[in-house]
Amino acid sequence: MAIYLNGQFMPIEEAKISVLDRGFIFGDGVYEVIPVYSRRAFRLEEHLRRLQHSLDGIQLANPHSRAEWAAIITELITRNSGEDQYLYLHITRGAAKRDHAFPKPPVAPTVFMMSSPLPAPPTELLHGGIACITAQDNRWLRCDIKAIALLPNVLLRQMAVEAGCAETILLRAGSKNEVAFLTEGAASNIFVVKSGTLLAPPKDNLMLPGITYDVILELAAANNIPHEVRRITAAEVFAADELLLTSSTKEVLPITRLDGKPVGDGKPGAVFAKLHRLYQDFKRDVMRNNQETGDGIQGGRLG
Ligand code: PDD
Repeated sequence: MAIYLNGQFMPIEEAKISVLDRGFIFGDGVYEVIPVYSRRAFRLEEHLRRLQHSLDGIQLANPHSRAEWAAIITELITRNSGEDQYLYLHITRGAAKRDHAFPKPPVAPTVFMMSSPLPAPPTELLHGGIACITAQDNRWLRCDIKAIALLPNVLLRQMAVEAGCAETILLRAGSKNEVAFLTEGAASNIFVVKSGTLLAPPKDNLMLPGITYDVILELAAANNIPHEVRRITAAEVFAADELLLTSSTKEVLPITRLDGKPVGDGKPGAVFAKLHRLYQDFKRDVMRNNQETGDGIQGGRLG
């Protein structure tokens, strides 16, 4: 597997970073996960925009221009096998003597990128759905930053694994008396369907603004699926007809069990089926359009 580290491509076994790297010491960095379909980065502009938002959020200068990122990404895709891949892109504040405050003067950031195979979600999950648990969202108040410091997410996801489930759905209450509301999954965004309407939590500081989340809402808007973006209470999550999970690596999946009980009738629902088909068509269409225009970048905004 070829990786990219600080200006060079190399086999992963040869990649080395300092033990003083602030990513290793403090989790001081941000990342992106970018799906690649038919060897083209999906929604690259949107991923690079979110990366910039994360970098701004931690006051770290972007080490590369848009054109430089596109060139590195294209080269990494070429050096790895597989039509469908996912790229993991990681930037830290670099290696410096251990001190919580930023190094002064700044040091060179560490820039790392790797590619992994991206298998399509297994059909048994599409037909049977996944099981999830709920837990209190105990993370910080800047969940809009795609920070590499993922210990809360790691512990929350592990809770799901230990319960024999695929994901933990996070419910947050600002204070003791506040009604708990849906934020997202430990590593995914979550949608609720009630009486045919798709409900999505608002993109605020309490959730990661998912690229797949945006595609799903755009597809709903373009295909007359009723949808609302608003705060969703925990009670609405438990009373949902359908629950959907989205992420760059999972696309869109139906959640058919929550905390050991069936969601709706316990089967993937009609809104899931429609959105899943639309998502597959959208991917295929943008791949085809890309082959025609040859711009190497997939999946611009709809409409
Ligand atoms: N995670 N929320 C969280 C906390 C996430 O970690 C992710 C994705 C999402 C979905 O975002 P997107 O649709 O842009 O992938 C939402 C990635 C896949 C990961 O950490 O591996």
